[in-house]
This record gives sequence, structure tokens and C-alpha cells, in this order.
Amino acid sequence: MIIAKTIDELYNAKQTLSGSIGFVPTMGALHHGHLSLIQQARKENENLIVSIFVNPTQFLEGEDLDAYPRKEVADKKICELSGVDILFMPDIGSMYESDELCIGAPAIRGYILEGEKRPGHFDGMLQVVMKLLNLSGATKAYFGKKDAQQLALIMQMVKNYFMDVEIVLCEIVRDDKGLALSSRNIYLDADEKQRALALSRSLKRATKLVMAGELNVEAIKKGMVNVLEDVDEIEYVAIVDREFNALKEVKIGNTIILVAAWVGKPRLIDNLWI
Ligand code: PAF
Repeated sequence: MIIAKTIDELYNAKQTLSGSIGFVPTMGALHHGHLSLIQQARKENENLIVSIFVNPTQFLEGEDLDAYPRKEVADKKICELSGVDILFMPDIGSMYESDELCIGAPAIRGYILEGEKRPGHFDGMLQVVMKLLNLSGATKAYFGKKDAQQLALIMQMVKNYFMDVEIVLCEIVRDDKGLALSSRNIYLDADEKQRALALSRSLKRATKLVMAGELNVEAIKKGMVNVLEDVDEIEYVAIVDREFNALKEVKIGNTIILVAAWVGKPRLIDNLWI
């Protein structure tokens, strides 16, 4: 595995590759969720590039940029053992200059739900994903469904900017109790971990309601809120189509049910695609 820390090192390393390139962008602190993306990308491509970059422009003032979990040594080992060809770990100076040209999130879909709670987050996320996709020269890039709105916006960026890369949607990975894996789960103590299960429980409740024939969005959201009493604060419960347009009724095959809530220190998100 080649570790590239600068753009030149990345370009030099890419010279050694021929054939399709699978790409998995990450912010490090790799867990089984990342691993499943890496393994899928490894299987489906001749070459595999993974990036680890804690992107400052997608963190808001007061968020956990400095405290964001970092475990470089373990991450390198995981990548090496997973058959990664190039691990790209740039520093901030390689990725940004002071007076940058910026792309922004769309005015509506980029500023609802996560975008409303974290205004500007998606501008920074799209900015770095555009850079990383261009740098990697990926044929296919792999993203988890857990960050559903991020994924929808990346797909919109690829479409709107006619970018020549296939975005592959990967399933959410959960622990044995149903908690969706996230690097921020390390902030949870035992009691909070238990209480955090309310998020996946609320999605199970939504599934039950839909399977019983309930398609009305308000009724499903009410049913979900009823099982979220263990969280410290519910930020939103929402039901949208795959492009994040609001829905009045669930459309089977084109619906995402989302929940965001605070449990202890971290803000957790989870969702269900139906
Ligand atoms: O989902 C993430 O880890 C990040 O938002 C991403 C896509 C790596 C961009 O920094």
C-alpha cells in the first residue's frame, strides 16, 4: 500500500495503477461501516483508493473538529489488511488555498433537515467531495446510506456538474443491538449506548406501521416519536423521497425515513430506505 500525503505523491502513486479505480472517502476513525465500503469497493474494482481527511470546511463553529476521533495507526493497518492500493492522507494546506472558488449546496435540499440544523455543513462537504473525486479519478465512489442527505446531495452534484463517476450506495452497518455504526459512537457511555437504541427502534416502529398499511407520513412520524422518549432531544423525524422532497404519503420504493437526536454528547442520525 502506498501512503500519499500530498497531491504530487497521490498523482505519482496513481501512475502505478491501471484499470478501474474504486474510491472510498472517509474522515478516518474507521469502523465496520467503513470496512464494508472498503470491502465492496475492493471486490468491484481493479484498484482501490481510500482517503482519510478530517475536512474542516464541513464542521460548524463550535462542532467537534478538534476533538473528532483520530486513530491513524489503526486506520493504516485496516487499510493495508483490506488490500487498499493507495491511502491518501493529505494535510489541510494541500487541499485548500485561502481564496477558494466554492460550490454550494442547493438552496432547498441543502438547507433542510441536516442542512437546517448544521447550516453550511453541506457546502463544505460537497466542496471536499468534489476535490476528492477529481483527485482520485475514481470510476466508482462508495458512500454509506446512513448519511442519506449527504448521499442525495453528492448524487445531485455529480448529475449537475456532469461528473464521470458512479456513486455506489452502501447499506447501513449496525451493531448486534441495532445501533447504526458511527465514528461518534465512541462518545457514548454504556447507558447512552442503551438509550441510543431508541433511534433504530423508532425506525422499526415505522416499518411495522408501513407493513400494517399505514402510509400517512404524519401518523408514522407520531408513532416514531412515541418510542423516542429515551433520547435527550429529538432534532427531527422526517419522511422524504430519495431526492429529499417532502412526502404526504410513503411511496414504497422511493422513501427515506429519517431520525436525528441527541443522546449525551453526540448527535446521532439514522434512517430507513423503503
Ligand atoms: O461522510 C464522511 O465521512 C464525510 O462527510 C466525507 C464524505 C468523507 C467528506 O468529508
